[in-house]
Amino acid sequence: MKSRILIVEDDSSLVEGMALILEDAGYQVTIAHNGKEGLERFRGQTPDLVISDVMMDEMDGFHMLDQMRKEQAGSPLPFLFVSARSSRADMDTARRLGADDFLPKPFGAQELINAVRARLDRWRVVHLAGTREAHLQTVILLAKAVEARDLYTGRHVERVRRYALALARALDWDDEALAVLDFGSLLHDLGKLSIPDALLNKTGPLTEDEWLLMRKHTENGAHMLDQVEHLRPAIPYVLAHHERWDGTGYPRGLTGTEIPIEGRLMAVADAFDALTTWRPYSTPHTPEEALLKLRDGAGSQWDPFLVETFRAIFERGELTPILDMIDDAPERTPAASES
Ligand SMILES: [Fe+2]
Repeated sequence: MKSRILIVEDDSSLVEGMALILEDAGYQVTIAHNGKEGLERFRGQTPDLVISDVMMDEMDGFHMLDQMRKEQAGSPLPFLFVSARSSRADMDTARRLGADDFLPKPFGAQELINAVRARLDRWRVVHLAGTREAHLQTVILLAKAVEARDLYTGRHVERVRRYALALARALDWDDEALAVLDFGSLLHDLGKLSIPDALLNKTGPLTEDEWLLMRKHTENGAHMLDQVEHLRPAIPYVLAHHERWDGTGYPRGLTGTEIPIEGRLMAVADAFDALTTWRPYSTPHTPEEALLKLRDGAGSQWDPFLVETFRAIFERGELTPILDMIDDAPERTPAASES
């Protein structure tokens, strides 16, 4: 889709020349001849970038920009002033109002195109960061919905996310894999939303049928994520976090490195947090005791290499800030639904 540019300039020949240059460069251009008209065009269809003169009749460029900023929501629209006036005071005013740049008149075609391209590129980066943040907020909301139903988890999900991130960084995962981990770990128990309250918070031992239903949370969660394109990469976290290295886990009973690395990593992070916090029938272990338990289960329940890597990052002190997040007493009323 073509980027839309609004040019506001009272010099007719200049505005038409600029429009031709930018249309040739592949942009969709709208023109206005003063600030008031510029504001009307802006309200009709928000452009991707505004280029404006400073001195104009009816409303000057500064007032127009000020008004646009007040009316606009979301990431600030890129704004470029073109002016013969480029005194220090003008530049300060423009910056205070959030203009991105001043292009002094006269300027050449290529200079104009370069300035426009640079503003639009920068805006895309800022906008993308904002979209990612919005995405993460949605994921956090979902994770909180899961926690709210599960009586004992407390801040479990947040700690597990941080343990998993620390482990993945030690494994040199790239930024994209870390970004997926960031939301995948938060959503790993999403499928618990499909488990009835009475079962999720049952305080006695579960029957065989109840276990079968409880174990469905992995597949149910994966099915829920499959409906949402941008959350789909999190499926391995949701589906494989209860698989075991020796093949006795669920839902698929995969063995060793057949288990996606996302699931193996979550299993270590999840277990370490379970061992070091209050659980239904046990008091917390110290981190050292928990690491010994992980070592005992390395090669049967957990990936031995990941257990060793996790121990190494603990010894380097990297887990201390996460361990400090653990409350001294049970976070919620204990329940028996550890799955
Ligand atoms: Fe789970």
